[in-house]
Formats: sequence, structure tokens, C-alpha cells
Amino acid sequence: MSAATKPVIGVIGAGTMGRGIAQVFVQAGHRVLFHDASTPALEAACTFIGDMLTRAVAKDRMTQAEAGAAIARLEPVDSLDSFAPCDVVIEAIVEALEPKQALFTKLADILRNDAILATNTSSLAVTRIAAPVPGPERVVGLHFFNPVPLMKLVEVIPGLRTRPDLVAEMTTLIDGIGHTPVTATDSPGFLVNHAGRGLYTEGLRLLQEGVATPHQIDDVMREAAGFRMGPFELLDLTGLDVSFPVMQSIYEQFWQEPRFRPSPMPPLRVAAGLLGRKTGEGFYRYDAGKIIRPAPVEAPDIDLPPVYVTPGDGAAELTQTLLDAGVTLCNSPSPEALLLISPLGRDATSTALDLDLDPTRTVAVDPLFGLAGRRTVMTTPVTRPEMREAAFAALARGGKGVTVIHDSPGFVAQRMVATITNIACEIAQARIATPEDIDRATMLGLGYRIGPMVLGDRLGPARIMTILTALQEATGDPRYRPSLWLKRRAALGVSLLTPEG
Ligand SMILES: NC(=O)c1ccc[n+]([C@@H]2O[C@H](COP(=O)([O-])OP(=O)(O)OC[C@H]3O[C@@H](n4cnc5c(N)ncnc54)[C@H](O)[C@@H]3O)[C@@H](O)[C@H]2O)c1
Repeated sequence: MSAATKPVIGVIGAGTMGRGIAQVFVQAGHRVLFHDASTPALEAACTFIGDMLTRAVAKDRMTQAEAGAAIARLEPVDSLDSFAPCDVVIEAIVEALEPKQALFTKLADILRNDAILATNTSSLAVTRIAAPVPGPERVVGLHFFNPVPLMKLVEVIPGLRTRPDLVAEMTTLIDGIGHTPVTATDSPGFLVNHAGRGLYTEGLRLLQEGVATPHQIDDVMREAAGFRMGPFELLDLTGLDVSFPVMQSIYEQFWQEPRFRPSPMPPLRVAAGLLGRKTGEGFYRYDAGKIIRPAPVEAPDIDLPPVYVTPGDGAAELTQTLLDAGVTLCNSPSPEALLLISPLGRDATSTALDLDLDPTRTVAVDPLFGLAGRRTVMTTPVTRPEMREAAFAALARGGKGVTVIHDSPGFVAQRMVATITNIACEIAQARIATPEDIDRATMLGLGYRIGPMVLGDRLGPARIMTILTALQEATGDPRYRPSLWLKRRAALGVSLLTPEG
């Protein structure tokens, strides 16, 4: 590659992804040769890119002259032979192994020996695509996200035989177009699709256990845990027909790793056409594309019994919150009192029994994210309805949102966040990516406000360990076994970002 001029880029496949990739490279000053097996598809893509640039001018994001120069750098070509001058060719054709292998094998004959073949595959192994290609060391994964101009993340994925220096070269190339490169090893789901498992699998698990409804789980994830979207809003947005095959494929590719075990619900929902926004109904209903949320349940307006707060994680904040709300507290679990507990990783039933509290008067309040946002309260199977309503009313004072759920070891937010952090730690442990890249990629690729490593640090690795260990003990399910990365850093009292020495 010449240092003086920008590398000449080839883009093959002019569908959803190819057109976005071609656009960002011409905008960044690269000459782009552009091809599709279908001439109408290629023409439509060139028109689309022209329209995008015109829109950017209208929005004052670029000048007319810049848009004109960018479009002049886009060269639609009708044969692969025209790619001879390219330094890097990025394929975004159909997601199937043989066509990608055949395309790269043909290009290997046409391009210079030092030209790079990059694949935008989202689910195939880069190593497999490269295997039959003459010069597999020049094949690399460049995984863009949809829509390419807006999603600023690109995963750089070296195959097992990729030339080591290609990673640095591709990192520079991606930096140069204003996107953020992260490096991931050639492994199922690469980085983002792997790290994204936690939110979906645990959300579906909570639903399957009857702990809460989809909208309750989403409310807690947004308004207590601070996520932009809950798992069911995201599944509806992506479409279950797209998400479910990814769940299945990652589970199978990791040889049925229990952490990724999909729920039995999605295939039935796909069969029923409950795909999400695109079919007007998924976990939510949609009216002209607008989500219809169930009406919030009003807090009951009732006289409150005295409340006893059990000492433990979060008890001080809970006590102060109740005092501020004018609730009468008592110093012992007197016979008429509502008994509040705040367990980590435990359910209300086992905690009440361990503490020798009357389970018919016990209600649990989730302490993990504090009480500033939405509050989650959870009953035992025998909690009396008036005690549940009293807890709801007491916690709702001051206009706070309250979600009342059924018994669950780790409520909703604890389970979701511990699972997400645990999977991120396992990605770091397996050296698939660095902890910093895991956080960067989940923020840019999944829209997380905070990456799972920093979030785990803020909540405390030891608390995440407590939640997972208790969950594993309560359920007997190995999906909750803590990653060694987490276990060691929690034991040492150091940050989850701490690399291996
Ligand atoms: N759509 C996404 O959100 C997304 C995200 C990341 C990666 N990807 C990956 O990007 C690739 C393309 O996906 P897409 O959504 O843009 O697909 P698409 O169906 O929108 O476009 C594919 C294009 O490739 C063309 N094509 C197919 N075979 C060809 C061949 N042999 N030679 C030349 N052109 C050929 C088709 O005519 C079509 O225009 C896939 O590997 C996919 O997994 C997709």
C-alpha cells in the first residue's frame, strides 16, 4: 500500500452493507471500485449513495463540492477484472461459505499478491473463508454494522493464517474513515454478537421462569439499570427471525455452552409470525410503527403497616428512603410489620427462611442499583397480598416507578447485569478481545451506555460474584458459573479491566 495516497478500495456486493461501506470510503477520500452480480442492484446502490450525499449537503454536513468529489470517487464496474488496481477488496455478498470462497479465489488471481481480501461476514469463520484461497494470509475479517455510516464500529478479525501485520494495517485504515476498530479473534459471534448474548438469554430466561412480563423486564433494565433498551424492545427491533438463528448458531458453535442456551420460546413465536416491529406484533404491539406499552399499574392508596428493614446490602438507603417518605419503621420484626429484605443473588423465599422471618409478610427490594431510579419489589409465593401492596405503596411514594415481580434469585436487574458482565469476562479470559475493546464494542455496537467491564467495576466485582454464585446454587444451572476472569479479580479486589500480568 502506498503511504502517499489513500488505498484504493474494492467493494463487492451492493446490498444493505456494501452500499454503506462504499459510501463511508468515498466520503473519507478513497477511490472505490464497486460491483454486484446484479446490475440493477449496483445501479440502485449508486443512486442510494448519491441520495445520501445530497441529504448530507442539505443537512450542512458536507459542501456540494465535497459531495461531488465523493461521488466522483465511486466507480461502478461490471467485471471482477477491473479490481486489479485495488489495495483492499471488501466483500459484502450473500452470507454463504462457498460463494465467498469462490469470489476470493477468483480475486486472488486478479489482484496484486500484497492486496488484501476482507470479508464482512457476520457469522462465518474468517479462517474457513480463507482456507481454499491462494494466499490465505491476506484474508481478514472487517465486520461493519448496519447502518454503516451511523454505526461507527468495525471488528477486525484475523483468521488463523492471516498475516499478523494485517491487523495493524486494517486498524489504521478503519481509523482513517472515522470509525472505531476493535480486534477480535476468529470465534463464534466475534466480539459484539458474542457479548450481546447475556441480555437476550437472561431476559428470555426470566420470562420463561414467569418472574416478570417483557415490559416489566424492559422497564427495570431502562429505568433501574440504565440501559437504553431492554431485551424485548431490542428483540422486537431486530426481528426474532434474525435474532433467533444467531442465538442458535452461537450456542451450537460453542458446543452447547449452557451460558448461551436459547429459550424454547423464540421458535414458536417465529412460527406464529410474532417477529417484532416488522410484523406489527412481537413482545409488544405496534400501531403504525409506534410501540404500544401496557398502561402502568397505579400504586395503591392505602394505610401502611409499620415496616421492619432487615440489616444487609442496601438497608441504610432503604431505611432513609422510607423515613423520607414518612413511613413508620420498627426496630424488630413485630407481628403486624411488613418485613423488607434486600438480598443479592438470593430469592425472597430462601432469604426469609434463612433469616427466620415470616414469609407471608416478607417482600424483597432490589439493592443493586440503589433506589434513585425504578424500584423492584419481589414477593415469596406466600406473601400476603396486603403486604405486597403495602411494599408497593411505600416504595412508590414520591412518584417513583415500582415493578412488582415474582420470586427470583437475583430479581431482574441483578441477573441480567451479572450475566452480561460474566460473559464479557469470559470473552476477556478466552483472549477474544481486550477488556477495553469489549467495553468499546458493546457501547458502539450494542448501544450500552457503559461497557460491562466498567459497569461490573462500578457495582463491584465481589457483588457480581456473590450474585452469580448464589444464582448457580439456587438453580443448579451451570449457565451462572462465574468466569475465572471475574473470580480472580473479585478475590484480588482489583478492577475487571486488569489484564493478565
Ligand atoms: N445486514 C446486516 O445487518 C449485516 C451486518 C453485518 C454484516 N452483514 C454481512 O454482510 C454481507 C452482506 O449482507 P447484506 O445484508 O448487505 O446482504 P444483501 O442481501 O442486502 O446484499 C447482498 C448483495 O450481494 C450481491 N451478491 C450476492 N452474491 C454475489 C456474488 N457472488 N458476487 C457479487 N455480488 C453478489 C447481491 O446481488 C446483493 O445485492 C453478509 O455476509 C452479511 O452476513 C450484514
